[in-house]
Amino acid sequence: MDLTVSVLLGTFILSVLALFVFIASMAKGLFGSGGAAAVQIFDKGEVGAVEDPAATKAQRGELQQAMDPAHLDSRRNAFEVGTRLRADQSSSLVVGVCLTIAVVWLVLASLAGLVASIKLHAPDWWVDQAWLTFGRIRPIHLNLVAYGWCSMAGIGVALWLIPRLLKTELVGAKYALLGGALWTVGVTAGTVAIGLGHSDGLEWLEYPWTIDILLVVGGALVGFPMWLTLLRRKVAHLYVSVWYIAAGLLWFPILFLVANWPGLHFGVQQATMNWWYGHNVLGLWFTPLGLAAAYYFIPKVLGKPIYSYNLSLLGFWSLAFFYSQVGGHHLIGGPVPSWLITISIVQSMMMVVPVVAVAINQHFTVAGNFRALLYSPTLRFIVLGAMLYTAASVQGSLQALRSVNTVTHFTHYTVAHAHLGLYGFFSMVMFGSIYFIMPRVMKWEWPYPWMISAHFWLVLGGFAVYFIGLSFGGWYQGLAMLDKDIPFMDSVTLTIPYLQARSVGGSLMTLGHLVFAAHFFMMGWKFGPRRLGAALLAAPDAAPAAARPVPAKEAAKGATGGMAA
Ligand code: HEM
Ligand code: HEM
Repeated sequence: MDLTVSVLLGTFILSVLALFVFIASMAKGLFGSGGAAAVQIFDKGEVGAVEDPAATKAQRGELQQAMDPAHLDSRRNAFEVGTRLRADQSSSLVVGVCLTIAVVWLVLASLAGLVASIKLHAPDWWVDQAWLTFGRIRPIHLNLVAYGWCSMAGIGVALWLIPRLLKTELVGAKYALLGGALWTVGVTAGTVAIGLGHSDGLEWLEYPWTIDILLVVGGALVGFPMWLTLLRRKVAHLYVSVWYIAAGLLWFPILFLVANWPGLHFGVQQATMNWWYGHNVLGLWFTPLGLAAAYYFIPKVLGKPIYSYNLSLLGFWSLAFFYSQVGGHHLIGGPVPSWLITISIVQSMMMVVPVVAVAINQHFTVAGNFRALLYSPTLRFIVLGAMLYTAASVQGSLQALRSVNTVTHFTHYTVAHAHLGLYGFFSMVMFGSIYFIMPRVMKWEWPYPWMISAHFWLVLGGFAVYFIGLSFGGWYQGLAMLDKDIPFMDSVTLTIPYLQARSVGGSLMTLGHLVFAAHFFMMGWKFGPRRLGAALLAAPDAAPAAARPVPAKEAAKGATGGMAA
């Protein structure tokens, strides 16, 4: 056994051992009090009080009625409201900027995806311009969704959560603004470069490496305020979302730097590195940011702590232990040593541990309260996203098995799975989070609640058509490719109706994104009816007072004021 094999096997055994040590330490209570950490996201007496700034006044009433009618008239502690208002204010500029840029990328990325989709069943459409050919517009779409929409939305949501979770104003927001600016210049330059035909030629790593430097430096700068704020934090326990955000912000620049370092990897080694990165960017960057948001917003909207705090920590650590070696499952059947592939398949199955931990936790937090989904726009998107996280991951683990991958690899089935993960899970969670966050950032309610519903139903319907159509089409395509009696071209033509269905589904999704973007910018311009009930943490007259630091004596007396959000 050579050194590389021993090291890989060693790390695998170590991760399994680490999991057992972790479980044993948790059983002995070495991780502190789970219960105390779970209620950390609530202020004193706030458990039971619902919160969804995206809901209308009537919806909020119904939501509170459905969860805990005893809190219908509850008032918040002025000191706590003041702390939270200052935390929100400290991040609002940088968060507003990041989310605005993310929404612009979402629209452009969707249009690029739609063009790529149509080309797969109408290949002669729009072929005069080189940048519109499939070979360029497809990577433009992928990189815009990954580094434009998903990353910027994830960063914006993370930067908003950090001061709230640490009950401390965001320190060094200017570093994040600079980082976000570098990142945006990088995504713009990378998109133009791909359009002009300059690409590094590796999937997920197409931007020329000189441009990647902007994303590495930008990514590191964006994470900087989190470390500074952590140093000044006013809380004893770190809520599980902080673990996920800190890990994601630390992992991304390292992954991106190693993967893009020029002249380091060649041939098969380069392909292995490509997919080590390709899956780690999903599992160690997008997934932690998406789960951090779900772990905050689901309990917060419901006014109910998560079901098991210890289970959430088990989920985090087992993700950290097992995810980093799954990338090899993208190369099943490739010219890669089979032990490497086998380890990646075993790790892919081990991923069931964190996935089930998250699924149990989120299901039992919402269980019995599914009616709340009727009244909370935020919850509707995020609970759907959390469910689709479980679905994508279980599907992924099965897809990593050699027997299944033999059928699905090189087919549209993989593309359906890719959208289940990055769209069904991650993007849905981001939509819900943005609906919650923006009223707090802008101090203005979403002007037209019907547009939130239109967005939800358009993207849900569109995505269902996209996912179901392509999964069936891809599976039949795989079976046809494996059948020696079927000519190869038949395996291509049989997919055409499914590809057309994808264009229909994709058009609905794109329309949903246009509605979302229009609503987002209407809010940005404070267009539409003025309703401030839910957007403010405290009543308009109480807000300025609450925003002022409350003298310790007054706070000690338990002064109350402000109203439930
Ligand atoms: C935020 C929304 C979206 C996200 C996060 C997303 C994500 C992705 C990802 C990760 C891939 C790479 C898949 C793979 O290589 O297996 C991809 C490819 C693709 N996406 Fe999207 N997508 C989004 C929206 C759309 C929309 C609205 C359409 C319109 C139909 C679309 C059409 C496509 C097409 C045609 C491909 C190329 C598939 C291929 O190479 O066979 N996507 N997208
Ligand atoms: C336990 C968790 C998961 C496992 C084991 C897993 C496994 C897999 C496998 C086996 C493939 C297909 C490889 C191939 O045949 O080429 C794949 C592709 C993909 N998965 Fe997952 N998956 C998981 C979760 C997720 C999640 C949560 C996301 C999104 C956040 C995601 C996004 C993707 C994407 C975008 C691709 C397409 C990559 C490409 O070809 O460009 N997966 N996954």
